[in-house]
Amino acid sequence: MHFHLPRVKSFTDIIEQVRDAIRHKHEKESEAHQASSVAESIFRQAAGHQPKGVNPEMVNPDEETVPGIEHPGSTGVIYCSDRAMANGFSYANSHEWANLGQGAPEVGPIPDAPARPNSIPIPVDSLEYAPTTGVKELREAVANLYNDTYRKEKTSKYTYENVCIVPGGRAGLTRVAAVIGDVYTSYQIPDYTAYDQVLSVFKRLVPVPTALDVKSKYKLDIEQTKRDIRNQGLAVILASNPRNPTGQVIKGHDLKELVALGREGTTVILDEFYSWYIYPDHDSGFGKSISSAKYIEDVNEDSVVIIDGLTKNAAGRDSSPGSCQSCSRKGAIQLGGHSGFAYAYDLNYQLALQRHFKAKRDHVLHRLRDLGLEVDLAPTSTFYIWLNLEKLPEPLNNGLVFFEELLKFKTIVIPGIFFDINPAHRRNLFNSPCHHFVRISFGPPIEDLDRGLDAIAMVLKQAKKVGPQNMGRGYVASESRDLDRSLTLILLDIRKASMA
Ligand SMILES: Cc1ncc(COP(=O)(O)O)c(C=O)c1O
Repeated sequence: MHFHLPRVKSFTDIIEQVRDAIRHKHEKESEAHQASSVAESIFRQAAGHQPKGVNPEMVNPDEETVPGIEHPGSTGVIYCSDRAMANGFSYANSHEWANLGQGAPEVGPIPDAPARPNSIPIPVDSLEYAPTTGVKELREAVANLYNDTYRKEKTSKYTYENVCIVPGGRAGLTRVAAVIGDVYTSYQIPDYTAYDQVLSVFKRLVPVPTALDVKSKYKLDIEQTKRDIRNQGLAVILASNPRNPTGQVIKGHDLKELVALGREGTTVILDEFYSWYIYPDHDSGFGKSISSAKYIEDVNEDSVVIIDGLTKNAAGRDSSPGSCQSCSRKGAIQLGGHSGFAYAYDLNYQLALQRHFKAKRDHVLHRLRDLGLEVDLAPTSTFYIWLNLEKLPEPLNNGLVFFEELLKFKTIVIPGIFFDINPAHRRNLFNSPCHHFVRISFGPPIEDLDRGLDAIAMVLKQAKKVGPQNMGRGYVASESRDLDRSLTLILLDIRKASMA
């Protein structure tokens, strides 16, 4: 530890100056500590965020406001939107904010892409109730799309019977989880925030975590997974691929090996929501997507469930946003219904999308580097950057503090803690390996990205200039949401709502 002392006259002066320096250091440390505590206590106050199982006395009985119903905890994006609203964000003034927490791609025009459709004809018979698995024509179109894209050379082809249509990713995941039995289900950390709720709500399946780390490029070790299957009796593996939030993807031989586990008694559930958000190093790699469908040998025998979604992969191209398809072992799964329209990807559009998003990724990485924020591992897929804050001075190295400080500059990112899937809230998340991370989305348009990066620059500048003393101050408490406290739950039938 070094203290830089100015020139002094006497021994007592030296003692005094050392004392001052130590006092100053302690003050700084305690200010940094205080900022972390404030940010963490705001997090703890949100419904469902109390740790459970660690210290039973910490369970908040007030959280069970509706008899028999427990708050599941808010997903990262919802918590962050609530915090942003407490800091003045509203949907009316959202253009003044940089929402780099956004889990959706931009929906405006994409350079060099064909125009997006802006109206659709709705025939009268499409207003009928849709079957719960989706209309047959749409299921057929999805099967054909998968066969054309990934299985041209294969004799085993998907048919409409392998496909179910559901109203959104979370709904699809929930339906899949609902049919998983009393088995060990393997998942990895970090991964998509919604798995936390899925794995905690469905109590029959027993979640078994594997922590991925940067040293192994956040890669799932397939050989280790095989050993875990043998030794721990894992029956189901759940993963997003490409992975949110690390932006890494299992592909080629590794993906083939992972799929092969589906022929050896394990069910592999792959959430391929970002299969088109792939950024090749060379021009020849553009225009391709990645899916496990390519490596499935027999679509009716291999136990591989694919969850895909139009919300990201065909954002703005398709007329039924929110729908999602799942190709599964025949008859094994029934998912929620959604009326829809036959579709196919427009390759020119997907190509333009990939080029545009790769340019946005490079732009953000470049600007972060200029700010001294070197990213451990550049994303090769998705539209997220998993930013390690460990090298920043305390308390900015805490993802929750970094997030709160950015809110003051009208910018939203997602604290890393939300990607540490902790279904039963058994571990103390503040010891999490994700605590020193934030996820930055490059889904929004470039102007928004720049506004957010300017805000990051300002937070860093201020931290350098005045140190931690203003951090942790002026954090506005979130209002509790009426919905959390209310017994009035409105369940909307999306099959009808989508037509309204
Ligand atoms: C890995 C992953 N799967 C699925 C979804 C989409 O779910 P939904 O359509 O419910 O927004 C997301 C959204 O962020 C995601 O990151």
